[in-house]
Amino acid sequence: MSGFSSMTEQDFHSYNTYLTRGEGVWVYDNHDNRYFYATTAVPSVGLGNRYVIDRMMEQYHALHFASTCGQTHPLIERLSQKLLALCGSPFGQVFYSNDGSGAIETAMRLARQYFLSIGEKKRVKFISLEGNYHGTTFGSGSVTHMGIQESFGPSMPGCYAVPAPVGYRPPISGTPEQVAKFCLDMLEETVFENGPDEIAAILIEPIQGVNGVVEISPDYIRQVRELADRYGILLIMDEVATGIGRTGSWTLSRQLGVEPDLLAVSKGLTGGYFPMGATLISKDVAAGLFNNGGIFLHGSTQSGHPVGCAAALAVLSFLEDNQLVGQVKGKGEYVMTSLKQELSDHVHVGDIRGHGLMIAIEFVSDKSSKEGVDYAFGQSLSADLRCQGVLGNWFNSTLILYPPLTAQREELDFMIDGIIRAVKGEGLHSAAAGS
Ligand SMILES: Cc1ncc(COP(=O)(O)O)c(C=O)c1O
Repeated sequence: MSGFSSMTEQDFHSYNTYLTRGEGVWVYDNHDNRYFYATTAVPSVGLGNRYVIDRMMEQYHALHFASTCGQTHPLIERLSQKLLALCGSPFGQVFYSNDGSGAIETAMRLARQYFLSIGEKKRVKFISLEGNYHGTTFGSGSVTHMGIQESFGPSMPGCYAVPAPVGYRPPISGTPEQVAKFCLDMLEETVFENGPDEIAAILIEPIQGVNGVVEISPDYIRQVRELADRYGILLIMDEVATGIGRTGSWTLSRQLGVEPDLLAVSKGLTGGYFPMGATLISKDVAAGLFNNGGIFLHGSTQSGHPVGCAAALAVLSFLEDNQLVGQVKGKGEYVMTSLKQELSDHVHVGDIRGHGLMIAIEFVSDKSSKEGVDYAFGQSLSADLRCQGVLGNWFNSTLILYPPLTAQREELDFMIDGIIRAVKGEGLHSAAAGS
């Protein structure tokens, strides 16, 4: 119960669902109620996936651990080659970490070391977008701009936030093009204010997942690539949530036609079967870092874990063999269309948005002012949704849904119907519908 010390025992139990087992798109609680599992973007290939578990068990029996400091093992090489092939030609090398925060932290350290290696010693600063979430470590937390930094006091010096060109709550009123231009101008101004030769990297989270599946204008992202090139700044793309199929491509960067210098992936990489993150770096960055004999001191004891690599390789094969990534667009559109048909006119539904299988419904107390709903509304809707047998994420007036990529039509229908019933207030607080 640590971390919930202000909660009573009763609060804790009503807030949290105790999960005891899982199968396919379903999880079960300690009362054997069944829920469609649409949280966190992690279980991309479903729960209890025999193919993945068997590959992991084989690896456990063969070699359950190998250090990657002064030793290595064959799966690292295989996984790196696979990731490089799937994520695109600009990348030349992969570094492993233990989660998404670690993948971002690694990208930030790599960016800084790259500039030290090529003699641009002043480049130590980072710019990221308001609403970006990058993780829980000190560096990744310092480039996260969601109003949670206050909880750990002053962040890492030299981390700046700029407005994000987003659809539903843009930083200025105007056409999407005007909003994107405004944001780009603000970015350029921030680069100038803080020294164009002192900025190491710009971080983009192309769809701000935690912030409520908020899509960043693709045109803006392409223009940021150009701006970064103009000033010799690196571009870090955080695809911890969007990567490995979630938006219908192996990376969203590729779908958008943007080549970042560094790319972070994590959640869908192992589908939750093992904690793992990966940072891919471009061939140019690798050359700058290592051509003069440099080494990257990245000896996290358990990164590149053989069982994690076996899990990732199995997840990637499973996605490929079942052509799941290619089905994401159609599945996502089906969910979005169904939700919009039934809920767009609802008095408290402000926006229904999504890309692939990242989907969100933002609730408002008043549609014209777009004022968010209160905490009690979220608590009540989450409870109703649980009663309908659906587990999603709730943040900042927004219901966030990440269905597993394996979800079939009738399973998606179960989720859609449950959401519609919960939002419309039908069948309030009934027993879990899926049991
Ligand atoms: C885009 C993005 N980056 C980084 C992270 C941090 O990943 P982790 O929670 O695995 O450390 C998250 C987690 O939600 C994320 O969505």
